[in-house]
Amino acid sequence: MAHLLSTCFYSKLSSGATSCSKPSTRCSVIYPTSLTLRISQSPIKKLISHREIPPRGRSTRRSNNIITAALPVSQEANTQPSNGSHLTSKDSSKRKRVMIIGGDGYCGWATALHLSKMDYEVAIVDNLVRRLFDHQLGLASLTPIASIHDRIRCWKSLTGKDIELYIGDICDFEFLTETFKSFEPDTVVHFGEQRSAPYSMIDRSRAVFTQHNNVIGTLNVLFAIKEFREDCHLVKLGTMGEYGTPNIDIEEGYITITHNGRADTLPYPKQGSSFYHLSKVHDSNNIAFTCKAWGIRATDLNQGVVYGVRTDETEMHEVLCNRLDYDAVFGTALNRFCVQAAVGHPLTVYGKGGQTRGYLDIRDTVQCVELAIANPAEPGEFRVFNQFTEQFSVNDLAALVTKAGEKIGLDVSTLSVPNPRVEAEEHYYNAKHTKLVELGLKPHILSDSLLDSLLNFAVQYKDRVDRKQIMPSVSWKKIGAKPKTVAA
Ligand SMILES: NC(=O)c1ccc[n+]([C@@H]2O[C@H](COP(=O)([O-])OP(=O)(O)OC[C@H]3O[C@@H](n4cnc5c(N)ncnc54)[C@H](O)[C@@H]3O)[C@@H](O)[C@H]2O)c1
Repeated sequence: MAHLLSTCFYSKLSSGATSCSKPSTRCSVIYPTSLTLRISQSPIKKLISHREIPPRGRSTRRSNNIITAALPVSQEANTQPSNGSHLTSKDSSKRKRVMIIGGDGYCGWATALHLSKMDYEVAIVDNLVRRLFDHQLGLASLTPIASIHDRIRCWKSLTGKDIELYIGDICDFEFLTETFKSFEPDTVVHFGEQRSAPYSMIDRSRAVFTQHNNVIGTLNVLFAIKEFREDCHLVKLGTMGEYGTPNIDIEEGYITITHNGRADTLPYPKQGSSFYHLSKVHDSNNIAFTCKAWGIRATDLNQGVVYGVRTDETEMHEVLCNRLDYDAVFGTALNRFCVQAAVGHPLTVYGKGGQTRGYLDIRDTVQCVELAIANPAEPGEFRVFNQFTEQFSVNDLAALVTKAGEKIGLDVSTLSVPNPRVEAEEHYYNAKHTKLVELGLKPHILSDSLLDSLLNFAVQYKDRVDRKQIMPSVSWKKIGAKPKTVAA
């Protein structure tokens, strides 16, 4: 594991503030002037200390080496009345406090801004390990992404809204304890996991890291809720991949089965197809158990594959721009195909291309999470929503991107690549996804115009594409015990 996470950032930020001018004008950013890299025995735990946030209410014991980190931005409460749908009549004067674990990542960043805009009080908890994976594997987002500090300062400068920041590892329970005591969340949205199936299949150490990081991190969150915020609602990001591809309809979490004359409603069978997916299955079991045993309230969002990059908030300024992964380890199907089309690389269809999955626009990710927060689970309830809006096969996506590419003058071809994964390439797939729609989700459907804009976006940044990162290099069958370097 040492080779994986052997560096730990201790950074001192410059005292200069980032100021972002109005949307569509350039942002002046003062970057950190002092940055020190050190080797740590206990990596990716507690990283940056700048200003401590005083705990609310209860007194907080701070251990010597645990630092609750916050941004050097003003913490005054926003006194504007909230018009968000999240406020209950009982508590209409208090803004709901939402802790977003993994808030520097692809889904988490977009969600943090959206919730902040909706007038929730938001804190991001992240250990920045996703940025470290890029360094380790020689990868980079298609889009240039600003540091989390600059992102948050820019948001403050544009909107006047604070986002608190806690940098550290949720596998470190002391760190998590400090963040819970300091921020006192009403809701925890948990995105903070290693989320790539190929990454978990690179070698033994990445498989072990993925399961440890994801399962222990989630277990710690459950214990923190039990110990410090027992009424807090956990909104946990799972994946549609937990279900696998059964030859029957996929229900939303539960299925009623009649067996030998008796009937019961049981958790829907899970068939994870990578060590990553299996970590999510284990998370779901641990959450379901603690709902039953401790009365925790939880929503498991079985999310489909997310596409797109822009949300109303991230497009307010270039410093707020989200990441977009196109490489074979972290990139997901439609995003990858758009970037491949933009640079004239054939679309990489794995095997027969009949693999069918649920997909959703990132603008719907943020909408779904807000709906789950605004309509919390009951104490003791383990609620499961299938979070996607449309189903496509890989061949469907390739055909859609080819057609959209031609419209904007791109010459798009398709290449059948030997499938590096172990999965059915032609199969039945029909997954239910009605619960979020019943709560009010208004889906963004993948239309020609949306594809055009995603493709144009990929074209805009095509000079940043490293073509060596496009072809798959991780094989489900060839995974071995020895640490492997992926990038060519
Ligand atoms: N992106 C998708 O298409 C997709 C699809 C289905 C489900 N999901 C789920 O949604 C969640 C977010 O996905 P994403 O694409 O935004 O991933 P991401 O890798 O971009 O973001 C995850 C964030 O969590 C942080 N993190 C990881 N481990 C942590 C730890 N131990 N402590 C603190 N922070 C930690 C990372 O640094 C990163 O910023 C994941 O749980 C993923 O499984 C994503």
